[in-house]
Amino acid sequence: MSASKRVDQIAGHLNYPKGMLVGQTAIITGSGQGIGAECARLFANEGAKIVVADVDAKKAQDVADQINQSGGSAIVAVGDVLDDKYIKELIKKAAEFGGGKIHIIVNNAGYTWDGVIHKMTDKQWHTIVDVHGTAPFKIVREAAPYFRVKDGEPRNIINISSTSGLHGNAGQINYSLAKAGVTGLTKTIAKEWGPQFGVRANTVAFGHILTRLTAAKEAGAFITTPDGQKVALGIPQARKAGAGAAEQHLDIPLRRPGSATEAASAVLAVASPLFSYVNGQTISVTGGRNM
Ligand SMILES: NC(=O)c1ccc[n+]([C@@H]2O[C@H](COP(=O)([O-])OP(=O)(O)OC[C@H]3O[C@@H](n4cnc5c(N)ncnc54)[C@H](O)[C@@H]3O)[C@@H](O)[C@H]2O)c1
Repeated sequence: MSASKRVDQIAGHLNYPKGMLVGQTAIITGSGQGIGAECARLFANEGAKIVVADVDAKKAQDVADQINQSGGSAIVAVGDVLDDKYIKELIKKAAEFGGGKIHIIVNNAGYTWDGVIHKMTDKQWHTIVDVHGTAPFKIVREAAPYFRVKDGEPRNIINISSTSGLHGNAGQINYSLAKAGVTGLTKTIAKEWGPQFGVRANTVAFGHILTRLTAAKEAGAFITTPDGQKVALGIPQARKAGAGAAEQHLDIPLRRPGSATEAASAVLAVASPLFSYVNGQTISVTGGRNM
């Protein structure tokens, strides 16, 4: 092949004047705020139809409204990923919205409920393992009929993990196990649904990203468990202040935390055709931390 023809082919491959995700429908869990909301906006900019899935009805609606007002297309699906009934509704609603198709799932919903090993309760353990591990499994299982298809269109599953899952983190034994499990979940999907159906599955593992999960606990953010217990979110200032090197971000080669937009941009990259041959991988988005 001549060099110029090859360049033409590459240019064609990279040329998406109407957006890289046109014609695709994406479910993004936990997209009412933080990284998920940024994913929703960035995916919508690339032409995807977005299902804003979140337990927080108001925030989810705000994200969807903003997308629709800027010329994109989004609906909300409000509920808790720990609720089996909600998972069924979510997939049904998404498939209807997508004209019978779902192309992308970003399993992003989640939170932390920290405690040292000897004080961690069974409830803390099971809630966090279920939110980050069991719920993504059940969502993917429910969506199987829309991914085990041969229509020649791309299919992508992206599961969100954390450096806590890859390296462990003191005070987060529940979250570390769950986020470590995400990598096995991803690879199994890639191995089961890649060969016949061309489904790609990847994990994106974040380091320190600026959202309410890493903000001061004293700011008062909380999430409510299905049985009504309030779980405070964020990192206690005392722990931050005592962190020394971590406080100055000396553990991060880029010497700063990432923004939610930077985190979401990496998810978009993985979902995009530019990553069409990247499969079963764990992509660290950490500013170089834990190299
Ligand atoms: N922020 C970080 O530094 C960081 C680092 C590593 C991994 N992560 C992961 O990234 C993902 C997004 O976190 P974030 O920092 O954007 O948090 P966030 O709190 O800003 O946003 C999370 C969203 O998920 C929703 N959510 C939580 N539990 C839910 C449930 N059970 N059902 C439905 N919706 C639910 C919340 O309502 C919220 O809108 C999480 O999986 C988190 O564990 C974040």
